[in-house]
Order: sequence, then C-alpha cells, then structure tokens
Amino acid sequence: MTNILNIDGIDPVELATVSYTVENGIAWVSFNRPDKRNCMSPRLNRQMMRVLDALEFREDVGVLVLSGEGTAWSAGMDLKEYFRETEAQGLRGTRGAQRESYGWWRRLRWYQKPTIAMVNGWCFGGGYGPLFACDLAFAADEAQFGLSEINWGILPGGGAAKVATELTSFRNAMYHAMMGENVDGKTAAQWGFVNEALPLDQLSARVNEVAHVLLKKNPIALKATKDAIRRVREMSYDNAEDYLIRAQEAANSFDNDGRKEGIKQFIDDKTYKPGLGAYDRSKTSA
Ligand code: COA
Repeated sequence: MTNILNIDGIDPVELATVSYTVENGIAWVSFNRPDKRNCMSPRLNRQMMRVLDALEFREDVGVLVLSGEGTAWSAGMDLKEYFRETEAQGLRGTRGAQRESYGWWRRLRWYQKPTIAMVNGWCFGGGYGPLFACDLAFAADEAQFGLSEINWGILPGGGAAKVATELTSFRNAMYHAMMGENVDGKTAAQWGFVNEALPLDQLSARVNEVAHVLLKKNPIALKATKDAIRRVREMSYDNAEDYLIRAQEAANSFDNDGRKEGIKQFIDDKTYKPGLGAYDRSKTSA
C-alpha cells in the first residue's frame, strides 16, 4: 500500500509530493509529482527530507529505493517553483531553496541504510544530485539522462557538474554538459552513471533482487563500507589506509557479535565462505 507521510499543519499538496511503501525490509520511496515529471520544488525537497528522516532508523527498513511515479525519475529542479519563485524573494529565497535540496541529498549520501536509485525514466540536471547520493543505481534502458542546463542558459549547478565528473570520464562529462544531449539507460551504464541498465519491465524485479542481497549483509558493516567507499576517493593512499583502520575499529565496538559470528561460521563451523556469500545472520542479532 502506498503511503503519504502525514504531518499536522503541513499543506496536503506538499505532503503528497513524496510517496512510499515499506515491504519485506525495503522502503520504496517515490518522487510523486508525475504530472510535473517529478521535478523538485521546494515543497518536494522539504517533504523528501521528512520522509527520509522518518524511515532512516525504522527497524523494518533495511534498504531504501528511490524511484519516480509515472514516466519520470526526476526532471530536475522545478524551473518555476525552485528557480523563478524563490529568486523573486531575493537571495534569501534562493539560498533557502538550495539549503533544502542540497540538504536532503547530503542526508541521502550519508544515509544509515543502503540506498538504490531506480531510474525509471527522465533524469535531468538537479536529478543528478540524488542519483549520486544513492549508493547503487539501476536504470531502465528507456530512461533518458541529460544535463539540460546548457539548453536553457545556465551551467550544471547544484552539484550536477561535479556528479558527472565523479561518475564518468572527462570527455564524456564535457560533451554531456556542453552539448545538452541526452543519453539512454544503456549509455548511462557504459558511462558509469548507473550500475546496470535493463528493460523497464524488469527494473523493479532486479532492484528487489539486489536489495534482498543487501538485506542479508551485516548492517553495521554495510554502513561502514558505503561511507568508506565515498570517503577514500578523496584521500591519499596512506590517509585512506589509516581511515579504514579507524573506521573498522569504530564499527567493531558497535558490532562485536556479528563480526565474531561471521568469523566463527567460516573458521569453526565451515558453513559458508565470505568470498562466496554472507554469513547466516539469523544466528545472531547483528
Ligand atoms: N520544471 C518545471 N516544470 C516542469 C519541469 C521542470 N524541470 N519538467 C517538467 N515540467 C512540467 C511542464 O512544464 C509541464 O507542466 P504543465 O502540464 O503545467 O504544462 C509538465 O511538467 C509536463 O511536462 P511536459 O514537458 O509536457 O512532459 P514531456 O513528457 O513531454 O517532457 C521532459 C518531459 C522532462 C523532456 C520535459 O518536461 C522537460 O524538458 N523538462 C525540463 C527538464 C530540465 O531541463 N530540467 C532542468 C533541470 S535543472
């Protein structure tokens, strides 16, 4: 059943900009402005932060999937409500709107649970922020990715230029940003924007399968791992080596039981091989 997060005193239109359902450990969250191709308005940005907040530490949520209702994943920032209407309020309006959108993308980048972008359709400009914020990404072959900013006269801001250069080669990023041409899901996968592309009618089944693999892993180790992969990219080798030692030692203090059980099932019980799959978490609380 699809839910809308209700909060007293907030306009129902704002509440309805994001929908979600929680099923078998997976929170399926959707941009929910299909008639506006899920472009991100200040109202959507505020509601998305509330929904992420409400789901992050729920015990029945182990993985979060971000998708879009209708034909779009997200057509980027709302040119009317995010740009024109906030600019009309002066710098205060612009900076406030930026804080709200960048705020939930940052929250998502460092989210407690693993996250998957399920890109079902259009993905433009500002949409690259949440795309990069998700740990993994899967796209429909039919999806279209574009840095369309150049087509309406701005640079790819809101982190979009950074995302392109983080995910794909210099030449791809430069062509993509300067030409304003879209690429489909298959090319997005070749370029590294997403992990895989597959036909739209197979997309949610594949994401479900990936999410279920993640649900079997040690959740403390998953959080430490996803943070480590993001952090070490900007570090020298020596700094990364040191960070990883500290991060593992910090994780150990949270997770003695799970880690010890993982070692025991391999070394003593010989019931699994870490190189071929995860230990049986049903034998421990971690
Ligand atoms: N900002 C504001 N409104 C947007 C929007 C955006 N980024 N993207 C779509 N919409 C609105 C349209 O204005 C239209 O509103 P209306 O029904 O009140 O006229 C509605 O959403 C449907 O859009 P439409 O263009 O008719 O849908 P489409 O399926 O034919 O085309 C797109 C889809 C995504 C190709 C097209 O809407 C588009 O180019 N959007 C802008 C993408 C973009 O450049 N984003 C900027 C990111 S920073």
